[in-house]
Amino acid sequence: MSFEPSARIETVLQEERVFKPSSNVLGKYSISSFDQYQQLVDSAKSNPEKFWGDAALKELHWFKPFDIVLDWSNPPFARWFDGGKTNVSYNCLDRHVLNGLGDKIAIIWEGEPGEVRRITYKELLIEVCRTANALKSMGIKKGDLVALYMPMVPEAAIAMLACARIGAPHSVVFGGFSSEALRDRLNDGQAKAVITADGGFRKDKIISLKEAVDAALINNSCPTVKSVLIVKRTKTNIDFFPERDIWWHEIVPSQSIECLPEQMDSEDRLFVLYTSGSTGKPKGVVHSTSGYNLWAHLTFKWIFDVQKDEIYWCTADVGWITGHSYIVYGPLSNGATTVMYEGVPRPSNPGAFWEVIQKHKINIFYTAPTAIRAFMKSGRKIPDQYDLSSLRLLGTVGEPINPEAWMWYREIIGRNNCSIVDTWWQTETGGVMISPLPLATSTKPGSATFPLPGIQADVVNSQGETVQADQGGYLVIKKPWPGMMRTVHGDPKRFRETYWEYLEPIEGDLVYFAGDGARRDKDGYFWIMGRVDDVINVSGHRLGTMEIESALVSHDSVAEAAVVGKADEIKGESIVAFVTLETDNAPSEVLMNDLKKHVIKEIGVIAKPEEIRFTNSLPKTRSGKIMRRLLRSLASGEEVKGDISTLEDKNVLDELRK
Ligand code: WT7
Repeated sequence: MSFEPSARIETVLQEERVFKPSSNVLGKYSISSFDQYQQLVDSAKSNPEKFWGDAALKELHWFKPFDIVLDWSNPPFARWFDGGKTNVSYNCLDRHVLNGLGDKIAIIWEGEPGEVRRITYKELLIEVCRTANALKSMGIKKGDLVALYMPMVPEAAIAMLACARIGAPHSVVFGGFSSEALRDRLNDGQAKAVITADGGFRKDKIISLKEAVDAALINNSCPTVKSVLIVKRTKTNIDFFPERDIWWHEIVPSQSIECLPEQMDSEDRLFVLYTSGSTGKPKGVVHSTSGYNLWAHLTFKWIFDVQKDEIYWCTADVGWITGHSYIVYGPLSNGATTVMYEGVPRPSNPGAFWEVIQKHKINIFYTAPTAIRAFMKSGRKIPDQYDLSSLRLLGTVGEPINPEAWMWYREIIGRNNCSIVDTWWQTETGGVMISPLPLATSTKPGSATFPLPGIQADVVNSQGETVQADQGGYLVIKKPWPGMMRTVHGDPKRFRETYWEYLEPIEGDLVYFAGDGARRDKDGYFWIMGRVDDVINVSGHRLGTMEIESALVSHDSVAEAAVVGKADEIKGESIVAFVTLETDNAPSEVLMNDLKKHVIKEIGVIAKPEEIRFTNSLPKTRSGKIMRRLLRSLASGEEVKGDISTLEDKNVLDELRK
């Protein structure tokens, strides 16, 4: 496995400020003091089976209770709640309607051009049943994978829940990915159908989703895909292929409003979601039914603790895990009101978020550090124009948040009256793993604080030994948890090697390696320091350097490419590509732009290199491995430090410095 210890995990940030937990709340909270948190931590540690078993029985509805809590006889392949039968859409809908919450608003949808839809739990259940029946009528059966490539419209959540209802795992592909990236995912997952829209509104433009689906499927390139279900959203003209295309509005509304939920085994797949790693193509992260449902449910309850009449808003896109766990499954499983927003802040509407908060009186707001840094840059005068007094809790996710941005979020958006929860987790973990609890944890700006109850997180060195306070190391999870990914779709070996065999077993047990560096301070607070592998995080979007390199190399003029991340004030990191050209090709501005376009075509606009530097050769070790550490220093204009004795040709550095 290619891995170079990164200098990044050695950085030590000095931060002494501490903020007490919230007192701005009234109501009934699941964890309301540090003592209570500590008791949960202790009981989870002393008897994990009882802790998780009790939680699963209490928080989820079971058609048939499980026989065993955890089967860890074949690590790292966990089986949670085996023998149990449940259905995630039942947990998110039916049980609330049966409990008298039918008229409560489940989803408030704020459409990009300004329209609003409010959907009650009862209405959502009806729409989900209709859609589930429509999928059945299209020939979708339990176990068939259904891909979603959609804008942020309620139909996206409805489609996810409809898939869950009939036991068809979904695979949501973010609408910003290109047709090529979509095709790879459809083929890897062997998708039977695609649910999409004619188009989506994005930053004052329309993105042609259906056209991208057509391009992905052209010439039978995805032979498993038999049908395409299309939501009419932008009224864009599309090509319609009657043998496989179906309009949502022509098939869904006429269906029966009843659809019995399929009784799913705990370990049946709920969804596959593709994410980038340090090697190879994106991997399909597999999540299962009960374990994921429980973890999304519990973490949402512990952290956000939405009270009876509160409104909660997470600004993510459903194409990412944050949208899965904290727009759809976590909030709905808890019977909360969740806001879904189709827009994004943009120069033509920099106050977009604050307007939505004011309009819907949002109480709990969850967004990404990159957004906060962008707002910070344009100054407090914009948020100051809005009434944000409904807010009581602010969350962040996706990348490390720098203390300045944390303080700004607290002071300017939270008016010093809201707790900040900096939540660390990953696609693979299903839900949040390390986070403050608003009523229990004293926070420090920039720290994700402590692991949630039941999560055995640690910071270790490459021998698996716990490092001392304030020493950098690898962030690991030492025990299985219900929301953990089950495998990489179609590649169990990769699952084992990437996550569980990266580090040596500790006391004979496999440990989960997250890919992040971290340190713990003298008070035990966790400080996440970012990826230590070849993954870069651009505006909270996770990209593998290898994927971008492969995209560049697939261009006719490119011989070799090496991609690194460079610190960026707003995006966290930006992409810098070092490129060597095939003979007979000369560097030029035109070629540079052409290469950027090529990457957009191969992966999507999120992977566009900020900078491309042409060079005659790349710095390599004698065994031919590209020395990214050197490129990282060069990209950020730093002097190259550390050992360069393994560098094959020292002249390369001089050339690159120029
Ligand atoms: C990677 C996972 C979890 C949903 C969004 C991203 C980084 C995530 C934090 C945080 C520092 C964070 C890590 C992680 N990350 N949250 N609070 N502080 N870093 O999911 O695309 O799977 O990316 O995002 O590097 O490994 P993802």
